[in-house]
Amino acid sequence: MNYCIANWKMNKSIKESCDFLRELKKKNLESIKSEIILCPSFVSLKAVKDELEDSAIQLGAQNVHQEKNGAYTGEVSIDMLREIECEWVILGHSERRQYFLEEDVIVNDKINTVIENDLKPILCIGENQSQRNNHETFSVLKSQLRGALCNINNDAKILVAYEPVWAIGTGLSASCKQIDEVANWINEFLLQEFSIKVPILYGGSVTSSNCGSVIDLENISGFLIGTSSLDVNEFSNICSIVNER
Ligand code: PGA
Repeated sequence: MNYCIANWKMNKSIKESCDFLRELKKKNLESIKSEIILCPSFVSLKAVKDELEDSAIQLGAQNVHQEKNGAYTGEVSIDMLREIECEWVILGHSERRQYFLEEDVIVNDKINTVIENDLKPILCIGENQSQRNNHETFSVLKSQLRGALCNINNDAKILVAYEPVWAIGTGLSASCKQIDEVANWINEFLLQEFSIKVPILYGGSVTSSNCGSVIDLENISGFLIGTSSLDVNEFSNICSIVNER
């Protein structure tokens, strides 16, 4: 199974989100084998869910709080996501790590909250430019995976997105060779350390021009897409290319 996940970040109003979905539904992607997941802002989630109707397209949130409820001004709980039948949650995105100081231990709490409440986490990991330059890529990924996946239920459905920080929003995608090397390593590491095999996605300046060669890699099962997911034609082109594979 392949995945095409749109991470809209802090973009698109409720109206723009619903307009996008209406256009996407016209693209005849309904018959496709891959899973398409839209992750709008919190305020658009309910409206997008209503607009989905019977569509096979799924809904994801961009974050959740680790506690069930309480005095956490500005936060959104897992029950709130469950109430609107949101199925997926992006966790550990590099922007959350960088701007909101989310550490692996918090990501781990959030993953466990998501799994215990029958939603599905999309865990993002990735090294920054200086870590890559210093040949620290694998040690960074190892500690992010160990930290985030500590004590998780091995039977849980989870996706891991490899997103090198230097490739996010820069227009500079990682090369197939780099992605292949890391995806193979993640696959091996998760098997050895956690006895789990999970779909591994790539994220970082994915476009309809570069996604075809990446989806052909043995251990890549789809994409987490930021900038290119904001344009309905570009996003649906990526979904079609992924679906042909
Ligand atoms: P990008 O973002 O596609 O704009 O590089 C990817 C992401 O942050 O998930």
